Formats: sequence, C-alpha cells, structure tokens
Amino acid sequence: MSCKSVLISTFEDKIIGRSAAFEHVLNQVRIIAASDSVTLIQGETGTGKELIAQAIHEASPRRQNRFVALNCSAIPGTLLESELFGHERGAFTGAVAQTKGRFQQADHGTLFLDEIGDLPLELQPKLLRALQEMEFERLGGSQTIHVNVRVVAATNQDLEQLVNKKLFRADLFYRLNVIPIRLPPLRERVQDIPLLTEFFVAKFGASLNKPIDSIPDEVMAVLKAHDWPGNIRELQNFIERAVLFSPGPVLRLPLGLNQTVTQTVRQISESASRTLADADRHHILEVLEQTGWMIGGRNGAAERLGLPRTTLIYKMRKLGIEARRRQSVRPIRRLADERCHASANY
Ligand SMILES: Nc1ncnc2c1ncn2[C@@H]1O[C@H](COP(=O)(O)OP(=O)(O)OP(=O)(O)O)[C@@H](O)[C@H]1O
Ligand SMILES: [Mg+2]
Repeated sequence: MSCKSVLISTFEDKIIGRSAAFEHVLNQVRIIAASDSVTLIQGETGTGKELIAQAIHEASPRRQNRFVALNCSAIPGTLLESELFGHERGAFTGAVAQTKGRFQQADHGTLFLDEIGDLPLELQPKLLRALQEMEFERLGGSQTIHVNVRVVAATNQDLEQLVNKKLFRADLFYRLNVIPIRLPPLRERVQDIPLLTEFFVAKFGASLNKPIDSIPDEVMAVLKAHDWPGNIRELQNFIERAVLFSPGPVLRLPLGLNQTVTQTVRQISESASRTLADADRHHILEVLEQTGWMIGGRNGAAERLGLPRTTLIYKMRKLGIEARRRQSVRPIRRLADERCHASANY
C-alpha cells in the first residue's frame, strides 16, 4: 500500500501523483501531519498548495475540527487584521457587533494562510506573536484570547527574496519556515502527466456527460512535451476543454484553442520525422558499406534491404546519400571505375 493511501485516506482519490518528487511531498505530509508545527508550502501557481494544505489537515489529529482558509492578497490590508483576529463592537465604523477572526474560528483546527507574501508589513508582528504565543487581542479589544491553532501558510513568491528586499520580516519568515514544503512544478514531474490526465478525463467525462474511453499515444506525447507554466490547474482546464470538444469517445486535442499545444504538435512531428529519416539513412549506409556500394544484382543492397532497386535509388536520392558518397572520399580513378559499375547496377 502506498503512503498516499495510508495517510491521506479521504484525499486519496483527489491527490494524484506517483513521481518520486511527488511521493517525497506526500511523505513529508505524513510526517508533519502528526505535529502542530507551522508549515510553509512554497510552489509555483497551480501546483496544488491548497490541496496539500487540506491534506495535512485531513491527515492530522485535528481533522474533526475546522480547516479555515484566508487569502491574504484578496482582502485589503485595513480589513485583514479584523479578518485574522476579529473585532469588538464599535472598533471601527460599521463594526456593529463583536466578531470572531479566522484564528478563533480555527481553534483546535487548522488555519491556512494563503498568499502569505502579501501580508502587509504592519500586520506581521501581530501574526508573529499569535504564532509564537497562540494569543492575541481582537481589534478594538483589550482581552487576550488564547487559541490552539495549527497554521499552514502558502506562497508562490520567493519569501527569502522578499526578506532581502525588506518587504517581509525575517523573524516571521523563520517562524513560518519551521517545516518547508516545496511543491515541484509539473515540468519536474512529467511522469505524473498520464495519471493526472486520466484522472481529469474521467472527472470531466462524468461531469460533462461525455465519456471518453481512450487517449491516443500521440495526444499523451503532446501533453507530456508541453511545459505547463500554469501547472496542474492549466492541465486540468486544458483537459476540460479537450473533453468538451472531443467528437467521440477518443480524446482529441482542441487544436487552435491553444497555440502552444499546436506548436508543440508541430515540433513533435518534425522531430519524429527527422529521427525516422536519420534511422533510414544510417541503415541504408550500413548495407551499402557491406555490399561495397553495389546497389542492384544478387546480394546487392536493394536485395539485402528487401527493396526494388528503383525504390532504393529513389530513397538514396531523397536522403542525399548518392551525391555525398561519390563526391567525397573516393580516389578519382576508383570513383570513375565505380561510376561505370554503379550505373550498370542501377
Ligand atoms: N496532485 C493533484 N492531483 C489532482 N488535482 C490536483 C493536484 N494538485 C492540484 N490539483 C488541482 O489543481 C488545481 C490547483 O490546485 P491548488 O489550488 O491547490 O493550487 P495552488 O498551488 O494553491 O495554486 P495558486 O498558487 O494559483 O493558488 C485545483 O483544482 C486542484 O484540485
Ligand atoms: Mg492557492
């Protein structure tokens, strides 16, 4: 049984990936879920940071309690303090009643602070204290509130760089970075693309009522060759379109909808035909060497290759073999002799 199924039982069917890079992440989830330590998930957009944060909660002893999420970039700085820590009645215009903040809502559960790199500098000391002491005061209040919260933060920014630029406090960064998890971008876990594709094809096949029962190899090759800057979210959206526009039960790429994929198809087919031509040329040259460049006749290259003589001549011309061999290394007298010999065999 994989660690994925042991650990993230409720998430088992939602978190897809068996690459070594992703198994490493799942192993980290298993180990840290049992602790209460602050965890910082870093990774490019769409790599699954929120999904992993939920998995940590689901795999932890806190799973019976709430998973509360707050996106620090979606709320104006002035309101963020109240969102995090709550406010007393009358704390500001419009504060008509006492309100609990997300820290208190997540008591005995998990608080997920998304886009933590966007937390305004002036709020950072208060968050640092809450993380260290598990206590804070509501906005406009004097009573200290104690909580028991496991914090998971996430960002797609380079927090260390923000610290260097003095846009993020170093002490808060070190407090958050107790257990760092780096989510690999999809281009570093290409082996997971087939599994993810099958998963999304089944998911959208069901929800769009368009069952797809096969994915051609060349479609999978294109999906694996693309570098997916938007990571799993981009792949997911792309497969949704592909399922929608596939005319039958075979998955087709919605060419024209995504220029990058169209370009990729062209690149792949160009390099595939280049490779075939190289292999052909290599094989024909090898046989020609063996027959001393005799093309026709008994035991000639055409017979050995199982081709009609004219077909081999045509192929050689197409692959540029004839001209190159005759004009290059041969001494002039032997070349002249061979011309007679070759034309007799042509
Ligand atoms: N391993 C995975 N298996 C299946 N689906 C996944 C996986 N990782 C991510 N997804 C899906 O991809 C989408 C993006 O994931 P998520 O929102 O967790 O990414 P994110 O890193 O938080 O992105 P952002 O930085 O843009 O907020 C979601 O719909 C999520 O369910
Ligand atoms: Mg996110």
